[in-house]
Amino acid sequence: MNPSQPSRPTILVARPVFPDTVARLRQHFEVDVHDSETPLQGDALARRLQGKSGVFVAGVEPIDAALLAACPELKAVCSMAVGYNNIDVAACTARGVLVTNAPGVLTETTADFGFALMMATARRIGEAERFLRRGEWTHWSYDLMAGQDIHGATLGVLGMGRIGQAVARRGALGFGMKVVYHNRSHLPEAEEAALGARWLPLPELMAQADHLVIVVPYGPASHHLVGREQLAWMKPTATLTNIARGGVVDDAALAEALRAGQLAAAGLDVFEGEPQVHPALLTLPNVVLTPHIASASLATRRAMADLAADNLIAALTGQPPLTALNPEVLARG
Ligand code: DGY
Repeated sequence: MNPSQPSRPTILVARPVFPDTVARLRQHFEVDVHDSETPLQGDALARRLQGKSGVFVAGVEPIDAALLAACPELKAVCSMAVGYNNIDVAACTARGVLVTNAPGVLTETTADFGFALMMATARRIGEAERFLRRGEWTHWSYDLMAGQDIHGATLGVLGMGRIGQAVARRGALGFGMKVVYHNRSHLPEAEEAALGARWLPLPELMAQADHLVIVVPYGPASHHLVGREQLAWMKPTATLTNIARGGVVDDAALAEALRAGQLAAAGLDVFEGEPQVHPALLTLPNVVLTPHIASASLATRRAMADLAADNLIAALTGQPPLTALNPEVLARG
């Protein structure tokens, strides 16, 4: 480096990401890229963050109080995910570390996928494809792979944030579904009316939904929100789709309920302890399993990475970040 030039902040990109995102970050920072799909965590992440002002994460790297204590120079944690259960935001705020996530840019893509997964689950698409590929299709039959209808059915949305509302819109406006939901807060009346949506207590939501889509953020309050007791309230013909986070659903209890016929089928994009999947789920034919890809269209993944990069550039060059989770850190100067 030219000694007459002011030194630039150094950052870590903690996961491989689009090369042009990294190139853009290099215009502003000295950039260290963790070029492996094995996530950095704990001591390894702390070592790699020594002397770094910012970190670009992808929604899995744990950022907790111990890590922050070990990395006193860290000023900004910018995630390309909307979910931020991997980041202790309160601990970051206490240390004056700015945190950003990526809301908004993935809403429609994630809702598209949630709807697709719900339809694949209800109409047994994974099971039917495996059957055909195994060469077991020998004749048409009146009940061959007969599943549950989507149109006109009752869509239960658990968690009515941006993505929940986008799922509800697809159901109500595209498929004539009746929408019921459970959320900490009620939607404004006008939005409920536009969707024809009705708030229900959780037990009634579970009991009334023909297709339950789970979109609630993960945290201590939502850990195993859907467990043995709640699954027992479902209709035996109902489906459950989880695009929220592993841990919102008790996967062991879900496998047991599916085996016992307490619900018809499940579509899961997220898992407790992922990328490990509960072994019982892998053995059940009536479960559609996908590897946490709800936001994975190329355009949306680019938009998520761009937003995280914009946030990091803003945070470390004295501009207001676009989507700060703890903007009070900025007010402190
Ligand atoms: C998100 O953005 O939270 C997605 O689940 C990807 O991690």
